[in-house]
Amino acid sequence: MLNKLRLLTPGPTPLPERVRLALARDMIHHRKKTFMDMMGQVQERLRVLFGTQDTVLPLSCSGTGAMTAAVHSLFQPGQRVLVVDGGKFGQRWRQIAEERGLQVTTLAVPWGQAVDVAAIAEALKAEPAGVLIQYSETSTGVLHPVQEVAALTRESQALLVVDGISAVGLVPCPMDDWGIDCLLTGSQKGLMLPPGLALLALSPRAWKVAETNDSGCFYFNLPAEKAKLAKGQTLFTSAVNLIAGLNESLDMLLENGLDAVYAKQWALTMLNRAGLTAMGLTLLAPQHFAWGITSVLLPTGIDGTEVLRIALDKHGVCMAGGQDQLKGKIVRLGHMGWVDWADSLAGLHALNKSIIEAGGYCASRDYLESAMAAYHAALQGRPGQPLPNTHS
Ligand SMILES: Cc1ncc(COP(=O)(O)O)c(C=O)c1O
Repeated sequence: MLNKLRLLTPGPTPLPERVRLALARDMIHHRKKTFMDMMGQVQERLRVLFGTQDTVLPLSCSGTGAMTAAVHSLFQPGQRVLVVDGGKFGQRWRQIAEERGLQVTTLAVPWGQAVDVAAIAEALKAEPAGVLIQYSETSTGVLHPVQEVAALTRESQALLVVDGISAVGLVPCPMDDWGIDCLLTGSQKGLMLPPGLALLALSPRAWKVAETNDSGCFYFNLPAEKAKLAKGQTLFTSAVNLIAGLNESLDMLLENGLDAVYAKQWALTMLNRAGLTAMGLTLLAPQHFAWGITSVLLPTGIDGTEVLRIALDKHGVCMAGGQDQLKGKIVRLGHMGWVDWADSLAGLHALNKSIIEAGGYCASRDYLESAMAAYHAALQGRPGQPLPNTHS
């Protein structure tokens, strides 16, 4: 294989060299000053990323660990919660909530569509203790209208718990401004880090609940983590290398301002959507779409698993397929983390060729031009002009 391997999955994502070098630094001790100073710097910038004045806790676990910590810390067995289930990760909220012994009302959303805010308003009349939702549902590439949902929940007693695992660092999600009660993410997507670290923040009213709730769980004790973080430490042994990597990736994300990051993500989204449409393919999420992943339906009769195999083995591009009911039917093209326009063009080209080689039809001309035209149009009018070149 002479081609460079391009990782265009919705996590894990490629890592910038700066982050890889930070990850490779000598081990330091997690109870000593150097580490505590680094935690202080990280915390200051995590608050900017999350748009919160409150604490953002680093947790040593994958994103699902943070989802579990949220449900255990904010709710008691027997309480009722509303779960927005529009894909694989909505289902995960339901599973975690049921395992916690909560009474779950599920708002089922067809895969590829976003939740109807009016349905949430209606469901809130039953006074659930919480609403659990994804901002970006990675299994479908849909963006749920979290800002509108927050406008409803902040006027109610329900705590709004948002899985921002494929949203934070990719699409604006200012938690204090919007009134989100719990926002969490994982390291392996917008943050350009390896998997293994999760981040979680609570609103003041969510902290009130967490401080009196028995989480029923030894490992996830959010009030104790918060107290420890005030001293620049974590409750148990910290994920030292990942924190060092996070320190570097936050530098990269913030050095040109978050607006530049979101402008890039929007432009990459436009690039992918225009390119796929010009190939004659149908996008799974026509209206409410994520900014870090684009899902596309394959032509009927084409085996998605074979398309992905060809793309990887022959063209060096690793993309993701569909899950459950969408298995074999869609391709999910990641454009999150350390991915730029050239990677996305490679992804489009590999997908086009792989569909044809798997026996399907795909328009073979002009799609790259359409993709780049959409990218440049999306960046036009951006204050501060074109995207700066960030050298790794
Ligand atoms: C929206 C969403 N929620 C939850 C998860 C699960 O995260 P993890 O695999 O890090 O536990 C993912 C991972 O892909 C995700 O994209």
